[in-house]
Amino acid sequence: MNPGALVRYADRLPITEATPALTIGEGGTPLVRSRNLEGGFGIGALYFKLEGCNPTGSFKDRGMVVAVAKAMEDGMSRLLCASTGNTSASAAAYGAAAGLETVVLVPEGSIAPGKMSQAVAYGARVVTIQGNFDDALRIARELADYAERFALVNSVNPHRIAGQKTAAFEIVDDLGDAPDCLFIPVGNAGNITAYWAGFREYAQDGEATRLPRMMGVQAAGAAPIVNGAPVPNPETVASAIRIGNPANWARAVAARDESGGAIDAVSDDEILEAYGLLPAAEGIFCEPASAAAVAGLIKRARAGEDFSGSCVVCVITGAGLKDAPAAERLAVRPPESVPPDVEAVARLIERGQGA
Ligand code: F0G
Repeated sequence: MNPGALVRYADRLPITEATPALTIGEGGTPLVRSRNLEGGFGIGALYFKLEGCNPTGSFKDRGMVVAVAKAMEDGMSRLLCASTGNTSASAAAYGAAAGLETVVLVPEGSIAPGKMSQAVAYGARVVTIQGNFDDALRIARELADYAERFALVNSVNPHRIAGQKTAAFEIVDDLGDAPDCLFIPVGNAGNITAYWAGFREYAQDGEATRLPRMMGVQAAGAAPIVNGAPVPNPETVASAIRIGNPANWARAVAARDESGGAIDAVSDDEILEAYGLLPAAEGIFCEPASAAAVAGLIKRARAGEDFSGSCVVCVITGAGLKDAPAAERLAVRPPESVPPDVEAVARLIERGQGA
């Protein structure tokens, strides 16, 4: 049985005897070796960390379980977050499990439908902001300052970062050491911050002999860190990382520089190419933001960077069903309709071979 991230790494998390042992099965996600892209792009060893296998379908659950357990311990009665969708789904789920009211602020018309369904199903109060994510986060921060007993569970909450470190621990525990490079999508920049903290902590404690290069990837239309300036109207097909002014900006830059890594931008076309390659070549269906990490790796490999001696991990941050309509952009064979007759089906399949 999966004990949950809180219990498994309890001695590395800010929990006390008074912290409730909350879990809905987060953490312990698979690290899967690539079957095709590794050879195709000449990478020594390529792995995918499948964070879409968390209970609400994204990596947010690792941090949320800690943030919500601490909110319970502190006697908070309400959770609050701004979100491009996944944080709100996760907050709503852990809020329901903990018996806390959850209020989520999301940018109107721009969160993926699966994520909206989750927040609604888990019973959160969903408020759509007539603006973008950066507007929603600004409002959430101000609201948390003056409204009573609201626990802000965005990645500005240090318990979120603490919980998300556990993914780095798991990668080292599975591989026996840190990888050479970690490719990870960057939005509000909490996750790259958390992984870097986790890898450093494990290396300091002798659990790993080395540190990875942190390779963050932003969408070109929402690439404030790459451009060195906030983006007032961020735009990208990868709605999860449609963020123009990340809260953890400085810490992402520190992770990049301290690790000798990079933060790159990839175009929507490059994201969509990786988004199609992952299911077709690896059997991994993720949401577009997650594919950005793989697009970043492919872009560097094509530009001639030599990964033949490297162990590379790509973090697949969220599940494909979160944003099912995005799959309509893939150049794949559409469903074919036939009468309920075995010969009709057989004829269609034979005719269609290799077409
Ligand atoms: N991938 C997915 C699927 C995400 O949902 C997010 C962020 C990221 C990557 C980027 O992570 O923000 O820590 O740099 N989603 C947030 C949300 C912003 O509200 O769900 P980050």
